[in-house]
Amino acid sequence: KAFFDHQVVVFRNQKITPEQQIAFTRRFGVLEQHVRKEHRLEGYPEILIVSNVLNDQGKAIGVEDAGRFWHSDLSYKQTPSLLSALYALEVPVKDGVVLGHTSFSSTTAAYDALPEAMKKKLAGLKNVHSYVYYRNQNIQAQKAEQAQGDRVIQEHVLTPEHLAQVPDAEMPIVRTHPVTGKKGLFINEAHTSHIAGLPRAEGDKLLKEICQHIIKPEFRYEHQWQAGDLLMWDNVALQHKANFDYRLPLRRVMHRTTVRGTAPF
Ligand code: OGA
Ligand code: MN
Repeated sequence: KAFFDHQVVVFRNQKITPEQQIAFTRRFGVLEQHVRKEHRLEGYPEILIVSNVLNDQGKAIGVEDAGRFWHSDLSYKQTPSLLSALYALEVPVKDGVVLGHTSFSSTTAAYDALPEAMKKKLAGLKNVHSYVYYRNQNIQAQKAEQAQGDRVIQEHVLTPEHLAQVPDAEMPIVRTHPVTGKKGLFINEAHTSHIAGLPRAEGDKLLKEICQHIIKPEFRYEHQWQAGDLLMWDNVALQHKANFDYRLPLRRVMHRTTVRGTAPF
């Protein structure tokens, strides 16, 4: 109840094994196994490593740039994630200042705050969530960073097999939470390629307007990490975003488990 009431919760000072994280988060439902096989923790396919650390061969041990844009996890799947849990093993700290905060914004609070006319306009409208669109955007952003002299991020290759697992999905913009019954905005800058059924220019303008509305300061929480935090968030009721204000040799290592949700309505 606390989880669904608060949308994001943290348990501080945890010392948990991968088995314990899996067992605990499994209480909320079926766990996903991420399409990025090479970034799963060995022996634990339910755990996705989110990290900037490299192994002895100079390869990334996990996803280096998860959460570059505002998003909810796996929103492009037919059954997007209900909740994600991120367990912090190592957190970057520079001169006593913690870096790599994660920001959250409540899509239900954002929906409630919309003018009635906008709620009416959005009712029944759909938006297309696309993993391919996201990937292309992310690769563009990586290239821009590399042009500034940053490390080359080795993207995992999308095989036809991967692509078949993540076809574009048409989703309602106004989504009802399957547990709380609250309405929220299910549209995000990372995964939404366009609004269905509207001329492109008009749809793109509306998309931008809603996405900017969702992340207004009054709907936000910013998490400052400590090693040992187990942070859990509701992917139906929130969007989140990473903050890449740290670089190696500052290390950040997180283990993510993700609970499967239900088809949006
Ligand atoms: C994620 C994610 C953000 C972060 O793991 O799903 O978006 O700050 N992470 O690591
Ligand atoms: Mn995420």
